[in-house]
Amino acid sequence: MLRRCCPPLVEDAVHVWHQRTDRLDQDPAFVDAFHKLLSPGEQTRLAQIRRPSDRFVYLLSRAMMRTVLAQYVDSACENLAFGANDFGKPILTPSERPAVHFNLTHSRGAIALAVSATCEVGIDIEDRHRAVEFRALADRFFSEPEACYLRGLEGERLRDAFFAIWTLKEAFVKGIGRGLSFPLDAFCFDLDVHRLIAFRPLADYVATDWRFRQFELDDQHSGALAIRGRHAEEVCVQFYEWDAHFGTDATTGEGERS
Ligand SMILES: CC(C)(COP(=O)(O)OP(=O)(O)OC[C@H]1O[C@@H](n2cnc3c(N)ncnc32)[C@H](O)[C@@H]1OP(=O)(O)O)[C@@H](O)C(=O)NCCC(=O)NCCS
Repeated sequence: MLRRCCPPLVEDAVHVWHQRTDRLDQDPAFVDAFHKLLSPGEQTRLAQIRRPSDRFVYLLSRAMMRTVLAQYVDSACENLAFGANDFGKPILTPSERPAVHFNLTHSRGAIALAVSATCEVGIDIEDRHRAVEFRALADRFFSEPEACYLRGLEGERLRDAFFAIWTLKEAFVKGIGRGLSFPLDAFCFDLDVHRLIAFRPLADYVATDWRFRQFELDDQHSGALAIRGRHAEEVCVQFYEWDAHFGTDATTGEGERS
């Protein structure tokens, strides 16, 4: 029996549901239960994923999307049908469902899902500890002012600033639904080390009505949210931990974060 455990999604709020996938037990009972929630298409995609750890993350992310979104739109998890925009951004179909915007992200060891009733959203999380050629990637993908800023940083400051720009950029291109088909050097984030100061479109086709939030999920994963809306500035962002008992057991509420 499903129990209602999503807090009310009021206007101008964003809820971020998240979980450490590397800390969840691969309990066969849950794996089996989650498997049954998947559509035939999702089951096919699951079967095509070779690495067991990637398969588990895919299964968990679908289970999280279905159990959480079903509560917001007041439907059964297995009845939710997903489509995608022209660039692959998942959306709920049919369109007459209560309007819920959402976006999913996963990075080594964690998944997160942003949901809003009124604002379009994009979310990205990254594992800050992963080894990356910061300057080479920045020179290749970031805008010139961002790459130039990073050239002046070393060590931890370079790492923090790089992942801040990366997650902000990805959150934006995911928010607008274009993914990496959108040129990453057409817009720029100005930082104070890793804290956002300003978002600057560098081309006239870049939307200007987006606002951003940065957050730390845990000691390993940091992320960014892109939020579109008239009142995006005042949006209240709340974080909740999803677990395998979600919908049938108590849910850990956490509330607001930095
Ligand atoms: C959408 C995209 C941006 C995904 O980025 P990512 O960092 O690999 O992955 P994330 O975990 O944050 O997001 C993946 C999820 O976003 C969603 N998504 C897919 N296409 C999307 C789009 N066009 N817009 C928004 N969201 C999208 C899906 O739910 C996807 O989950 P799934 O793969 O389990 O179906 C993609 O275009 C991509 O390929 N990114 C590669 C990252 C990279 O190389 N960055 C360069 C340095 S800046």
